[in-house]
Amino acid sequence: MAVREILKMGDARLLRTAQPVTAFDTDALHLLVTDLLDTMRAANGAGLAAPQIGVDLQVVIFGSRDSNPRYPDRPLVPPTVLVNPSITPLGEEEDSDWEGCLSVPGLRGMVPRWSAIRYTGFDQFGDPIDRSVSGFHARVVQHECDHLWGTLYPMRVRDFTKFGFTEVLFPGISDAQDD
Ligand code: NI
Repeated sequence: MAVREILKMGDARLLRTAQPVTAFDTDALHLLVTDLLDTMRAANGAGLAAPQIGVDLQVVIFGSRDSNPRYPDRPLVPPTVLVNPSITPLGEEEDSDWEGCLSVPGLRGMVPRWSAIRYTGFDQFGDPIDRSVSGFHARVVQHECDHLWGTLYPMRVRDFTKFGFTEVLFPGISDAQDD
C-alpha cells in the first residue's frame, strides 16, 4: 500500500499515450491498482489514471461512494478497475458540466462530453467489462480514459469564460471535485 505523488499539469508524463497492459492478474498489476486506490482515496477523488502517478499503462480506476463528501448529490458509480479501455459514443448528444482533476488542482472547467457511451476493457484479473452508461458515469469514464491518451480536461474546454479557480467560481465550497 502506498499513497503516490500525483503528477501535475505541465509534467510531460501526463501527455503520453499510455501502453496497453499485456499480462493480467500479476503481482505488479495488483500493486498498481492498490496504489491507485490508496492515492485516490487519500485525495478524495472520484477517479485516477495510472499516468497521473507516473505509470505509463492503460489502467484507470473510478467510482463514487456514499461516504465521499465531494459528491453528495451525484449518482453512485460502481467502483471499477478498467484496463485497456475503449470508448464508443452512443449517439451524437453531448452534455457540458463542471470538471476538476487531481492533476490540475484548484481549478474547474466546463467540459463537453458524450452524453452516453459504451465502454469496454478488462478488470485487473483479465475479466471483460462491457457497459453502456450515461450521465455522470459516462463523464467520469471519459475523463479518466482521456488521461490514457495524454489529454487533460482543460484541453477540452471550449468556453474559457467557464474555466477558473474553484474558490472564485464556487465561493464557499472549499473542496473541489477532482478526478
Ligand atoms: Ni483527471
